[in-house]
This record gives sequence, structure tokens and C-alpha cells, in this order.
Amino acid sequence: MPPDVDIQSYLRSVTERLEPRLAALADERRGQGPERLVEAIRYALLGGGKRLRPALVLAACEAHGGDASDGSLAMRFAVALEAVHTYSLVHDDLPAMDDDDLRRGRPTVHKAYDEATAVLVGDALQSLAFRHLLAAPQPTAAALARLLAENAYLMVEGQARDIQGEHARLAEAEVLELMRTKTGALLASAVAGGAACAGAAVEAVYPIGLKLGLAFQIADDLLDLTADTQTLGKRAGKDADAGKSTLPALVGIEEARRRAAALLDEALAALAPLGARAEPLRAVARYVVARKK
Ligand code: IPE
Ligand code: IPE
Ligand code: MG
Ligand code: MG
Ligand code: MG
Repeated sequence: MPPDVDIQSYLRSVTERLEPRLAALADERRGQGPERLVEAIRYALLGGGKRLRPALVLAACEAHGGDASDGSLAMRFAVALEAVHTYSLVHDDLPAMDDDDLRRGRPTVHKAYDEATAVLVGDALQSLAFRHLLAAPQPTAAALARLLAENAYLMVEGQARDIQGEHARLAEAEVLELMRTKTGALLASAVAGGAACAGAAVEAVYPIGLKLGLAFQIADDLLDLTADTQTLGKRAGKDADAGKSTLPALVGIEEARRRAAALLDEALAALAPLGARAEPLRAVARYVVARKK
């Protein structure tokens, strides 16, 4: 049976709702500080990106019967999470890290501006994210901020593992731990935080998000090997050159595809009891693996 949710139009509607809020986040200090910093924050936040983590937040909230409307805590969490994710991308692209010149189909922040500005944009986005989230009147906002802080720290650990893993022979368990922290943690916090906005227990939902996070990074690593730069909007084929420790590099493309499919199946099975209102979440979950960019 074909899925009822058109994932492209779902992501488009999330993007349309999210971007004015990201623009407002960038503009919070406009006119009060260095204009170039504000411009660079805006450049990083707007004009591209799949907005997959915000989609997971909102869809997970609705799947658990919560309010994911524009004024909701879930939307606030979605904005904060996308800001933290964007900071991670800006720093990931720096010459000291992956040294990339293309992101979301445009020059990376350090290319469009300069390295110091890119470092500061990342720093600023992290602060803006938590300020935005903690401005919410709901008591749950503090718990969500803690969830985001813990998982943003795990992302940093994952980035450290990723850099240490270059030209190293990591065992499979180490590669999986690298993926769980680098990417899995923030994706899991999207799903668990969205569900928590609906009153669900973080511990119950986080493992489902983690499966999707691992599947997401496998898909990212496969796309680096199999897709082209134009489609991706970022340089393809760089992981092998950099000697990155990825799952496809360790187990091969076909086995990595099977692992991603199996993780998706396990996540979908765990979401089955949620019924029809979880259909958008299932559609986003399928897209995590099926995406072409
Ligand atoms: C890229 O994330 C970084 C990884 C964790 C692999 P996305 O593929 O979600 O990047 P955007 O936000 O769509 O640009
Ligand atoms: C980066 O993973 C994950 C982050 C924490 C940003 P990658 O280095 O594989 O992400 P891309 O391929 O540059 O988007
Ligand atoms: Mg990287
Ligand atoms: Mg990178
Ligand atoms: Mg990659």
C-alpha cells in the first residue's frame, strides 16, 4: 500500500513554517551588534537544508497526540534543534575539520565570509538555540534544553571520534559508536523531544530515534559514495579521500544498505502501535533512508 503522506509536500510545509522563525532567531540582535555576524548567521540558517530534524520533532509530537502548531513548545524545540544542527554543519565544514567549500548548494560559511566568522557563527547559533528554547513559559522547556544539551555534547564527542578515526582501522563497534554519537544523538533527541512535548517519556522514544539516526548516517555515507555533488549540494566522494571510518567503508555498500533498511524496519515496527496519527512520522522515517540528497 503506498504511503498516504507526500513527504515532499510535508517537508515543504515544515520548511515554510520554520524559516520565518529561523530568520527571527538570526535577527534577534540585528542593529545591536556587528552586522556582518548577523548576516553570516542568517546565511548559515536560511536558504537550503532538508529540515529533517524539525520535521521529526513536529511529526513525533503529533504522533503522540501533542500540539505541534506554530506557537507550540514543539515548534520552539524544532527551531532550537535546527540551530544546533546548523552550528554543527558550519563547524564540520571548517578547514580544521572536513575542509568543505560547498554546503546546501552554496559556498560554506567560512568561504562566503571567513574562518573566524564561521567559528563565531557556530558559537552564536548554540547560544541562540538555548535562549530561544528557554524563553518558553512551559516547565517542560528546561527538560528539553537538558535533552538538547546532552545530545549536542554527544555530537561533539562523535565529531572527535570521526576526526580520530581518519585513516584509522576502527572496529565495527567503534564505527557504530562514532555514528551513534556524531549523528544518532541529535536525531534521537528530535524524535524523543517531539514526543516529550506530547507528554511521552523520553526514554521510551529515544531508542527509536537512535535507530533512525544510525540509518540516517549510513544513508549519508552511502550518498557520499554513490551520488553526485550537484544533487547533494555538498562535495561527493570526499569520505574515502579523507580516510573516514564509515560503515560502508567497513562492510561494503550492499551490506550497509541492508543495515539501513533493517534499522528503518525496526523503527517502523516500534512506531506501529501509534496508529494513523503517526503516518507523517513514518513518512519522514522512510525518507531518512530513501532520500537522494
Ligand atoms: C548532514 O545533515 C550532516 C549529517 C549529520 C550527516 P543533513 O543531511 O540533515 O543536512 P541538511 O540540514 O539537509 O543540509
Ligand atoms: C557530520 O557528518 C555530522 C555532523 C555532526 C555535522 P559528515 O561530515 O558526514 O556530514 P556531511 O557529509 O559533511 O554533511
Ligand atoms: Mg564530518
Ligand atoms: Mg562533513
Ligand atoms: Mg557525510
